[in-house]
Amino acid sequence: MKIVVAKSAGFCFGVQRAVDLVMNAVEKYEGQKIYTYGPIIHNETVVEDLKSRGVIIMEEDKDPADYEKGIVIIRSHGVSRAVMDRIREGGHEIIDATCPFVSKIHRLASEHSAKGERIILLGDKDHPEIRGIIGWINGDGYDVIKTREEAESYVADSTDKIILLSQTTFNLHKFQELVEILTQKGYDINALNTICNATEERQEEAARIAGEVDVMFVIGGRNSSNSQKLYEICKQRCSGTYFIQTKDDFDLSVLQSVYNVGITAGASTPVNIIEEVTKKCQR
Ligand code: F3S
Repeated sequence: MKIVVAKSAGFCFGVQRAVDLVMNAVEKYEGQKIYTYGPIIHNETVVEDLKSRGVIIMEEDKDPADYEKGIVIIRSHGVSRAVMDRIREGGHEIIDATCPFVSKIHRLASEHSAKGERIILLGDKDHPEIRGIIGWINGDGYDVIKTREEAESYVADSTDKIILLSQTTFNLHKFQELVEILTQKGYDINALNTICNATEERQEEAARIAGEVDVMFVIGGRNSSNSQKLYEICKQRCSGTYFIQTKDDFDLSVLQSVYNVGITAGASTPVNIIEEVTKKCQR
């Protein structure tokens, strides 16, 4: 049996940076309270490991001032300006692990909305990244669009100048499709593809591998949106695609009479989990 592991599988630059910043903080600020604002990544194994090193999760629905003063690390998804302010007002120091690609979207949203332009965000309105971006828009001149149907029924004031930005993990083909639908409506739209390269590369490589194998494993956290998108992409190319969190989530019986297996993983999947899944397939 041939096993192909995607080169792009696993931690992306932004997630690796965020995890490294937490690890460094644990060493550098020994004796002080170290918090992550929400779980640092969508991976239970990594989060549990950090907990065992004393890192505490600051709950997003609680007032930062209710926590003992300490260091708060903002995860790679980023947060709104108001959340940053609340954390500081709560007496904490901030280490900002917002991925630079997300920070760039914050800057664009802030600058263009300040000029009175309407912002269209392509993404999931409930995802922390989109909630964070909304928090950098000046005023309420924005809309979030996720589906083809939403794009088709979208109506804006025809005089609005619109800047379109996307969630970093948005599907590239869907981005192109929705931009086309919105552009055909005749609006003055400046569409900026803010999907990060890591996501694009990961999705393209996953699609290519899925098209060549009998069984495809997508490894990722249950709540990881980029892993779920990878699963959707792979499922379209390979009906034998499985979404798993660890090696324990599949039975070797699925590999019976299988010649080619593909493996990819979301941006928050540590390399050891990918290796364990690969080893199990080799049995
Ligand atoms: Fe950043 Fe892209 Fe990863 S936006 S957090 S490098 S998926």
